[in-house]
Amino acid sequence: MAIERLDKVLARQGIGSRREVKELVRQKQVTVNGRPAASAEEKVDPDRDILAVSGRALTLRRHLYLMMNKPKGVVSATRDGACPTVLDLVPEHLRRRGLFPAGRLDKDTVGFVLLTDDGDFAHRMLSPKRHVPKTYHAQLERPITDQDVQAFAQGMTLANGEVCLPAQLQPLPQEEGCPMAQVILREGMYHQIKRMFAARGNRVVELRRVKLGNLPLDPTLKPGECREINDKELEQIL
Ligand code: URA
Repeated sequence: MAIERLDKVLARQGIGSRREVKELVRQKQVTVNGRPAASAEEKVDPDRDILAVSGRALTLRRHLYLMMNKPKGVVSATRDGACPTVLDLVPEHLRRRGLFPAGRLDKDTVGFVLLTDDGDFAHRMLSPKRHVPKTYHAQLERPITDQDVQAFAQGMTLANGEVCLPAQLQPLPQEEGCPMAQVILREGMYHQIKRMFAARGNRVVELRRVKLGNLPLDPTLKPGECREINDKELEQIL
């Protein structure tokens, strides 16, 4: 990794904004190879230098992984002519070049979107061979039936003839008097869940992605908020 400014490296690690890092440096809370950092603008080598904040050494991460609770009306893309994108919602101290959403949610779907600058990780996560499970909660027009559960489990054929991999469908308790169901997919076809229910004569009213792999969406994240995913959590995805 190239030589970089200390405040940039620490901000990227989620220690705080550059202004907050500057304050930590001023309070002598930041050390570089055991000595207090002289300035937030000091140049460091993240591959070699040992950085510590308040006495705790940092394990520097080459890449950034963010969990976002995507709200409605926001597009899972890096750019859009008309609508705000998930990138627009990333706070300044977590922004970095090359960040993109790994996988898409429809504009009106809410919940877990992973953003990263790690192309290899995204590729592995989205690879059709890996079949990383993605868990959704759907509010439906009508309650599901045992036949729906079987049809999802067998691998449904959509209206246009596309065949889905077997998917897990199960009922959930009603929310505000509306029928709810959980769906676990191991692939990501365009509008897949909406089209699966449509093929069963039902309709998705609201859709929320709640889990990627075994990692649940942090329930403390409000719509539009994001936070870094730590190493342990990352292992729960792949
Ligand atoms: N299935 C859909 O229909 N929409 C999504 O956003 C995700 C899965």
